[in-house]
Amino acid sequence: DHPGLLDQFGRVATDLRVSLTDRCNLRCTYCMPAEGLDWMPGEQVLSDDELVRLMRIAVEQLGVTDIRLTGGEPLLRPGLEGIVARITALEPRPRVSMTTNGIGLAKRAKGLVEAGLDRINVSLDTVDRALFEQITRRDRLSHVLAGLAAARDAGLAPVKVNSVLMRGLNEHEAVPLLRFCLDEGYHLRFIEQMPLDAQHGWNRGEMITAEQILAALGEHFTLSPFPAARGGAPAERWLVDGGPGDVGVIASVTRPFCSACERTRLTADGAVRSCLFSNDETDLRALVRAGARDQEVADAWRATMWGKLAGHEINEAGFAQPIRPMSAIGG
Ligand code: GTP
Ligand code: 5AD
Ligand code: SF4
Repeated sequence: DHPGLLDQFGRVATDLRVSLTDRCNLRCTYCMPAEGLDWMPGEQVLSDDELVRLMRIAVEQLGVTDIRLTGGEPLLRPGLEGIVARITALEPRPRVSMTTNGIGLAKRAKGLVEAGLDRINVSLDTVDRALFEQITRRDRLSHVLAGLAAARDAGLAPVKVNSVLMRGLNEHEAVPLLRFCLDEGYHLRFIEQMPLDAQHGWNRGEMITAEQILAALGEHFTLSPFPAARGGAPAERWLVDGGPGDVGVIASVTRPFCSACERTRLTADGAVRSCLFSNDETDLRALVRAGARDQEVADAWRATMWGKLAGHEINEAGFAQPIRPMSAIGG
């Protein structure tokens, strides 16, 4: 009887990723269609009290030490700063981070730090304005750049940047993105595209692999192994030109890191998931709204995690995308 979120393969989840909303103010072509999606109806979305209670149970009873707030776009969640303040007041205090598209961050970075936010990761797939608009269907590059700078100036270190490279679209942006991040002091990570888009348009042949990204960077930079243990982190890192700058690659498809996975997930409508790719969800909202005690909620969470699969099966025959798209699971 492990008190924490143990699975049958001996992994223990200590990292909780919480989607605060499935909505987004960008429309990245690799994520959702131009018209957006059928957003979750308001009554299905957990209230602040419900969300904070579930995070409290995770921290107090289930050994969660790290909470990452995601979306959709988490900055669109009303009362975000209040949620951050409440969860950073939990005991033992979890480390709290956020993954965001950065729009609106320029005005809010300072307040988020005051509320207790420890770290931030910002998505940015190009530093070219026209290409940014083509990828996201919105002309907002300057907002994201201002958001990044504000996050750094507010003391959110390290600021990380996530980039998905796509063939024929922004594959030539790898080097400019890295130059930009090195100049600005951000930690860039390239992410292999995963089959999690709402349109089910992912195609293995079009995906840019970690190997290809590293080869492209290798023509302009000298990459050497990063001198620190990776642990359960998705990113493999390299020092650039001897450091101190570095670059990471999150090779979810070609070099899966599931065997070291430390993650459990909560969706905005209160479903616990053991994996991005598992449809085996448990509806904690139903439990909570039926008046369940903390202990019952914790037991249901543990049971879900016990059933976690060894890994995603993207590379296996018969793989089917999960029902929820990434925007409704959390990045
Ligand atoms: P830190 O390195 O601690 O800052 O966090 P992180 O890299 O886990 O966080 P982030 O939200 O920035 O995640 C970056 C990307 O990693 C996500 O968008 C996903 O593409 C990928 N990722 C994160 N968690 C998982 C996971 O559990 N499985 C897989 N396959 N990919 C993941
Ligand atoms: N595969 C990999 N990463 C994705 N993201 C969104 N959709 C996908 C996908 N299908 C990225 C975003 C953002 C992070 C939260 O997830 O670009 O950086
Ligand atoms: Fe963990 Fe699933 Fe991601 Fe693999 S795909 S790292 S098991 S959440």
